[in-house]
Parts: sequence; C-alpha cells; structure tokens
Amino acid sequence: MRVIITAGPTYEPLDPVRFLGNRSTGKMGYALAAAFAAAGAQVDLISGPSALPAPAHPAVQLTRVETAAEMYAAAAAGAPAADVWVFAAAVADYRPAHVAAEKIKKAGDTLTLELVKNVDIAATLGHTKRAEQFAVGFALETTNELAHAQEKLHRKNFDLVVLNSLRDAGAGFGHDTNKVSVLDRAGQVVTFELMAKTDLAGELVRLVLVRRAAVITT
Ligand code: CTP
Repeated sequence: MRVIITAGPTYEPLDPVRFLGNRSTGKMGYALAAAFAAAGAQVDLISGPSALPAPAHPAVQLTRVETAAEMYAAAAAGAPAADVWVFAAAVADYRPAHVAAEKIKKAGDTLTLELVKNVDIAATLGHTKRAEQFAVGFALETTNELAHAQEKLHRKNFDLVVLNSLRDAGAGFGHDTNKVSVLDRAGQVVTFELMAKTDLAGELVRLVLVRRAAVITT
C-alpha cells in the first residue's frame, strides 16, 4: 500500500525576510506517517516547514516544501500512484499577491496586503480520485462543526473526514493530544476520546484499513 500525507503549515513569502503562516506543527501528519509505515505501507510525507525530525522508519520518504504551490506540486506528482491520500496539512488559503524582491520598508501607519487564493490541494486532487483510491481529510472548525465537516467531505471528495473542534481542550494545533470525530460519506460518525496524537494516529490507520477494505470489496 502506498500512502501520501500532507503535513504541517505552509509559509507564503511576502518579501525576502517575511512570510504568512500558521501555528500548525505537523505533529498529527508525522504521527500518521509513522503509523502507516508501522502498518506496512510505503509513505510519502510531504511536509511544510516543521521543527519535527524526519520519521525514523525507512518506509517514510520525507519531501520538504514551503508554499502551498510547492505542496500541491509534490502531492500531485505522488497522488496517481498512491492508494491512500491523507490531507493533514494546514494549507494557507491565500498568499500575498506580490512578493517583494527587497525587504518591505516601514512607511505609513497602516499597511494593506493584497492576497490571492491558493490552490485547494485536497479538492483539486479529489476530482481526479479513482474508485479504488481512498482519501482522508481534516476539518478544523469552531462552529457548526458536523455540518461544515460533512460539506468539506463532499466538496473535496473525501471518504473520511477527521473533525477537530477548537472548542475541545487539548485538541488541535501545538498540542500532543487530540480529540476528534470521524465522519464518512454515509453520515456515520465515530468519536474518539482525547488521546495522544501518536495513539490517535494508530486508531485512524486501523479505521482507514477497515474502511478501505470495504470500498475495495464492494
Ligand atoms: N486543504 C488543502 N488545500 C487547501 C486548503 C485545505 O489540501 N488550500 C485540505 C486540508 O489539508 C484539510 C481540508 O482541506 O484536509 C480542510 O481544510 P480546512 O482548512 O478545514 O478547509 P478550507 O477548505 O480551507 O475551509 P475553511 O478555511 O473555509 O474552513
């Protein structure tokens, strides 16, 4: 089984010394890479800037990228040959419209940045997914969590979507723990207790293997 995983944040440059980014650490994606490798998969881990060391398992190949465009290029190259796609990255939805060649100097009291939309990696690849391929996405929500997650599952053609609510203490960015619910296309919800991201990764891999087997045999 071949798996591609996107992980971590993306950094969108503004000038030679500044970027727009987010607080993702990559912990969930890296834990999933290790768990899939431990289950016998060949893993292509495509990571935005993260302080984490490369997973030690020899079946994990790490590709480091910086921007959403670079992450898309790497994911699009690996997706056709992969059996499972996991989109765990916190991809910047927008990037600066212009990247200044020189450091932007301080001038007026306010500064307005023009941003343009980035490619939606999961949605774009989702349209190319074959029947035997299996896609897992993440959704980080603060309101109407189940409805938003279900909408993303359909719009991005996921088979499963892992919902994090920022309302849950110990869940989401930066923590070593996570508390998630997993939704499928039939509207079924599996809820997990708060647990270490490394343990949750093992549970998610087990769930993907079971659900994927069901997809392949039907
Ligand atoms: N995703 C992606 N490329 C993007 C944005 C998101 O691949 N440009 C993926 C994420 O890795 C995740 C899923 O899409 O698996 C949902 O990401 P999220 O940020 O929750 O959704 P958005 O589509 O960005 O919607 P919004 O920010 O409006 O909630």
